[in-house]
Amino acid sequence: MKEYKVLFVCLGNICRSPAAEGIFRAMVKAERLDDKITIDSAGTAGYHTGDLPDSRMRRHASRRGYTLDSMARRFTSNDFDKFDIIVVMDDNNYRDVMRLAPDLEAEKKVHRMVEFSQHFVHDHIPDPYYSGAEGFELVLDLLEDACEGLLRKMKDSEL
Ligand code: 4NP
Repeated sequence: MKEYKVLFVCLGNICRSPAAEGIFRAMVKAERLDDKITIDSAGTAGYHTGDLPDSRMRRHASRRGYTLDSMARRFTSNDFDKFDIIVVMDDNNYRDVMRLAPDLEAEKKVHRMVEFSQHFVHDHIPDPYYSGAEGFELVLDLLEDACEGLLRKMKDSEL
């Protein structure tokens, strides 16, 4: 299989993208592909730089067996050099990331998470920050589904 470096991006890097990172890391590890796939996450805004993921997201994820322990950081244009695939959660993330793309080659690395959905029909991964428990559960459902789709595409060398 080809080697991949994937970066998940949301707004704050404390809810959606660290959850995607933790879920995808667990799936990749279970398939013993951790030597082929490098995973990280970042946020388009820097408000939470250095923070652990949101405690609500950590709690909901931990009930499903995922440990979220990444430290928030801001997405920068250097990430286009470091990663092959940049997966954003919503249209605002898409716009903010594309704005920093230096060239067409970089733009081609950017994908929406829902592009990889297999069972859900959602046009974005909704920001759970101001939602209740059901918002966090929905995000985890959507991310598990899309992470499976993403891994399948990598295994089939479709990316
Ligand atoms: P995330 O959620 O983009 O999924 O990490 C958010 C976290 C923090 C804020 C917004 C969204 N905030 O406004 O502080």
